[in-house]
Amino acid sequence: MIEVREPYFLLETESSSYVLSHTTSGLLLHGYYGKKVKFADFRFLSEKVSTGFGTSILYEGNPKEDIGWLNQEYSFCGSGDFRETAVMVYNEARGYAANFKYEGYEILASDNHAVPFSYGENEVLKLNLIDAARKLRLELYYKVFPSCDAITRYARLINEAEENYQIERLCSLQLDLSGSNYLMMTFDGAWAKERHLHERPLSIGTIVNDSKTGFSSNIHNPLVILRKPGTSENSGECYGINLLYSGNHMTKAETGETGKTRILSGINDYAFRFTLHAGEDFTAPEAVLTYSSQGLNRMSQNFHDFVNHHIVRGKWKDRMRPILINTWEASYFHIDEKHLLKLAKKAKETGIELFVLDDGWFSARHDDTSSLGDWDPDPRKLPKGLDGFSKAIHQLGLEFGLWIEPEMISENSDLCHRYPEWAVRIPEQKPGIGRNQLVLDLTNSEVRNYLIGKMSALFSSCHIDYVKWDCNRNITDMYGSGLKNQGEFFHRYILGLYEVLGALTEKFPDILFEGCASGGNRFDLGMLCYFPLIWTSDDTDYLERLSIQAGTSYGYPLSIMSNHVSSVPNHQTLRMTPLASRFALACFGVLGYELDLTDLSAAELKEVRKQISFYKNNRRLYQFGRFYRGEGTGSSFFYVTDGSSGKAILGFFQTLIHPAMPEDIIRIPGMNNDTLYVFQNVLQKLDIRSFGGLINMVSPIKIRINGRLHRLLARVYRPDCETERYLVYGDALRDAGIHLTQQFMGTGYEQDTRVLGDFGTRIYMITASQLKYRLLKKNVPETKTE
Ligand code: DGJ
Repeated sequence: MIEVREPYFLLETESSSYVLSHTTSGLLLHGYYGKKVKFADFRFLSEKVSTGFGTSILYEGNPKEDIGWLNQEYSFCGSGDFRETAVMVYNEARGYAANFKYEGYEILASDNHAVPFSYGENEVLKLNLIDAARKLRLELYYKVFPSCDAITRYARLINEAEENYQIERLCSLQLDLSGSNYLMMTFDGAWAKERHLHERPLSIGTIVNDSKTGFSSNIHNPLVILRKPGTSENSGECYGINLLYSGNHMTKAETGETGKTRILSGINDYAFRFTLHAGEDFTAPEAVLTYSSQGLNRMSQNFHDFVNHHIVRGKWKDRMRPILINTWEASYFHIDEKHLLKLAKKAKETGIELFVLDDGWFSARHDDTSSLGDWDPDPRKLPKGLDGFSKAIHQLGLEFGLWIEPEMISENSDLCHRYPEWAVRIPEQKPGIGRNQLVLDLTNSEVRNYLIGKMSALFSSCHIDYVKWDCNRNITDMYGSGLKNQGEFFHRYILGLYEVLGALTEKFPDILFEGCASGGNRFDLGMLCYFPLIWTSDDTDYLERLSIQAGTSYGYPLSIMSNHVSSVPNHQTLRMTPLASRFALACFGVLGYELDLTDLSAAELKEVRKQISFYKNNRRLYQFGRFYRGEGTGSSFFYVTDGSSGKAILGFFQTLIHPAMPEDIIRIPGMNNDTLYVFQNVLQKLDIRSFGGLINMVSPIKIRINGRLHRLLARVYRPDCETERYLVYGDALRDAGIHLTQQFMGTGYEQDTRVLGDFGTRIYMITASQLKYRLLKKNVPETKTE
């Protein structure tokens, strides 16, 4: 809802209020952003300046407009505000200073100037500002999404002068908060280590979270959170900020003597200078803000709803994603059709639905040194062509998916021999090489048209249900051969990419596109406007994934996060972890398998079959349920609930076992207080080999560890793990918590001992009970009807 009570504007979502105003001199001031409150009047919110602060500047000499101290809505330089400012525009005649004044507002039903853009907003507030001396018009947009407590913002600059300007910065949002007692959470990493949570207190100075790789990057994701000290997963205040942008991004948090915090977010001004010719306009990407007074889980859920309902579009919005098998870790570049069909057959037997042919299927692509750009199937690998292979896969009853990496070009490729100038490189300089490849210059419309044509032909050449769009290097040689201003290169590359993605996704609406960039090197809301799924990380190790998936979940929903069960020793870490654990974690999102199923034993295949059937029964919950990161003692846990809180699934994830471990207590907010639930673990089989030599304490005959008898016994005797089953009300789940049975920690074993060991997991089902209260009163513990 948007309410205007001149000179105040109130934007309301279901649980938050946002207030801004303008002064008579035309300054835009920020009033409030936080928990939803009622307003009789707004004047109490205005900052009261009387005698000023010394060495400060009064805006246009107006008493009380001490601009360096006031909370502003969108600042400009040369005004007396000496903090970082939201807009920096330059030309030689006029320099850097600007003076944008409020002129008026409009309320719109919707707006989509930004590319890409969110949709389905409730209302849009558009503020019009003018810098009369420079003849520059500035439009600030606020889109309101009440049910997910989100507000998106962006700015548009229009040059109405007869001279050109250089935009050196045009932030998507500025948020000036009173107070500076915040912790800034960022999601950082590297290849195979994406989006690990880091946090630090704000302190005097500026903290920058940005990317300079050309993409949103695995180094620093654009997602930023500010939380008050003491805010936890389920209580307290926090703000979330993210950008619908896949290129170089920047979010700055500045605090100073004012005791206030300024947040700026938008395109990174690193290597950015955009010429705004007379008569042209420039739109900054959309930024999204959300506020939660109920902790970080609620903030994440706001982002999840926002992405599911206002970012992901087309056929895959709200639609369950298929379970896939990917060939990469099963066979890498060794594409042997016969073997792949065997793999597909096994996949089908286990219940897998989609077969994805990864890298290596085209031209002379036997390793990563060649052929990117030449997207023609290699007849030595696929004798019946892609069409023949796709038909064979479909005949097995599976869908068919294909890997491509369209933005890249190998120097050793026909395309590069024909069009060497299409590769991004700086004249008279050797280009940087990443994974033996160069980047195609998407700032060049010829290249974009070629790509759209080539990919359209490829996607039409056979029955393709899914495409994995990869991108395996960062951009270093920031130079477009046709550009007059190289300061535009990075941004124009991303706009070019969006043009290609827009054209292809529109032309092939039925294809499920999965974004990938060496795993999660381009994991952002911009890509999600085109692709409903992103490969979370190349790292499929259970332990690493625990941090990666937890970090990712702060800003991105499970429906877009793809997770694969791979083989052990894990290919990224060489770590051994149980199959059950790899599965239990991969379930929290879109499940896939990435291993050679033909190498698995009969028992393992049986386990995989069971896993897939379990996931299918609970797929909607795992992909679209309300997700929570758990707060308990000891190990991590995640859970998902259905909207009506009739059911939940919880995954308990152990890292390392230690002696004398504290009790595991699981508290589960989010269920109905008065509903009675059955809390019960999914049974797992124990591998008696995990007890090592302790088996001889119970065996009548001596068993040689890893000997034939030991192995045989382990095959035929696979006892169930402990059983835990409790009847518990929703309020008790939240406030009292479930005390789980004691873990095995070297002091003996009984039937209810939880044997988890290193990297063990359990899945717990929480379902509304059918038991009558009357029975409970009589203390009937359990019936078969549950
Ligand atoms: C990087 C991706 O992240 C992997 O999953 C795989 O597709 C390889 N590229 C193929 O080259």
